[in-house]
Amino acid sequence: MIRKKHFVITLFALFVSAGWLKASVNPTETKAPVMPDNVKAVIEKSCFGCHNTDSKNDKAKEKLDLKTFDTLGKKEMIHALGEIAETVEENEMPPAKFLEKFPDKKLTDAEKKILIDWAKSEGKALMKK
Ligand code: HEC
Repeated sequence: MIRKKHFVITLFALFVSAGWLKASVNPTETKAPVMPDNVKAVIEKSCFGCHNTDSKNDKAKEKLDLKTFDTLGKKEMIHALGEIAETVEENEMPPAKFLEKFPDKKLTDAEKKILIDWAKSEGKALMKK
């Protein structure tokens, strides 16, 4: 009995220290994407909930993780920016089903323009680099 209890405690301690190690080694956990504040605000309102590392929406975060966005390579970032502009322009994102449930997350025309203009100009600037 005592040994079993001891084992469980050791395991628990291991998990805790592994988690602590991971958090201290992995700086992306607290890193916000580098974006102008107005862009960030729109993304946080309507995109970040699904498109971030800790999202439960696996499909969404696989396609686009906005939490680690600034760690993407040049090519991947240009691609992602193009897709952001496109999905917003075509009203594909945020998904219609989601907006039925959370109508307040719908982007206004001004917010769409902020996202699209930013994604396009960032993409162009990156291509010149
Ligand atoms: C309710 C969750 C949800 C929200 C909110 C959301 N998305 Fe998505 N997004 C998804 C899912 C799920 C996919 C994957 C769709 C698929 O594979 O068919 C996706 C895919 C994408 C893709 C990849 C498209 C492709 O063809 O590969 C982009 C880019 C994207 N979203 C951008 C955004 C932007 C920008 C916003 C905010 C304006 C946003 N999303 C808001 C769930 C969401």
